[in-house]
Amino acid sequence: MNKNFLLIDHPILKRDVTILRDKNTDSETFRAALQRVSNILAVELSKAFKLSAIEVETPLEKTQGAKLTHNVILVPVLRAGLGMVNGFLQIIPEAKVGHIGLQRNEETLKPVEYYYKVPEHLESAEVVMLDPMLATGGSASEALKYLRNRGASKLFFACLVAAPEGIKKIESEHPDVKIFAAALDRELNTKGYILPGLGDAGDRTFGTL
Ligand code: PRP
Ligand code: URA
Repeated sequence: MNKNFLLIDHPILKRDVTILRDKNTDSETFRAALQRVSNILAVELSKAFKLSAIEVETPLEKTQGAKLTHNVILVPVLRAGLGMVNGFLQIIPEAKVGHIGLQRNEETLKPVEYYYKVPEHLESAEVVMLDPMLATGGSASEALKYLRNRGASKLFFACLVAAPEGIKKIESEHPDVKIFAAALDRELNTKGYILPGLGDAGDRTFGTL
C-alpha cells in the first residue's frame, strides 16, 4: 500500500464508521458521527503540520511555546465534504475554508466541475482537502490538480472511506499527497460505489435520498 496512505486506527473511529455504514442511520445521526470522525482525523492529520518555536509569557515567567508555522486552508469537495468542515474547524479554528464543487457523472463516473472558490496564498499554506469518499479517485485527483495549479504544494487529503482503486490513482497522479482515512474498503461495484461502503455520502448527509 502507498506509503502516503495512513489508515487511522482508533476505537471511536471504528464505532462511528459502523454508525455511518448502517443503512438505518438517519441524516442527523450521520452528520454527528461524521463530525466526530472529522475531529479525530483533524487531530491525527495535524500531527504532520510544521511548528515554530515562540516565546510566551505566563503570569510568572517567560517560557518556550509553539505556533503553527503555516496557515491552514481546508477545502471541502461539495457536497459531501461539507460534512467534515466543522469537525476540522473545531480542532483548527483559525483555518480558512475554500470550496470545490464537483459531481460525478453517473454514467461515465467522471467528475463534472461546477464551483471553485479558494483563499489566496495556497502556496504558503498547509492545504487539507476534505471528502468522505475516495472511490475511483477521479474527483479527488481533479480537485488536487486544481489546488496544485493555484500554487498549493503542502497537500493533505482527509477522507472517511477509501477504495483501493482511488488510492492507486492518487498515488500515481499525486505521489506527494498524504491521504488520511478512517476505513479502507474492499472494492468498487460496477456503478463506482464503494463496497461495503456506506452508500452516497452526500445524499446521506443532506437527506436527499
Ligand atoms: C461523491 C464523493 C466524492 C466522489 C467520489 O460525490 O463525495 O466527491 O463521489 O467518487 P470518485 O472517487 O469516483 O470520484 P458526488 O459526485 O456523489 O457528489 P455529492 O457529494 O454532491 O453527492
Ligand atoms: N461516492 C459516494 O458517495 N459513495 C460511493 O460509494 C462512491 C462515491
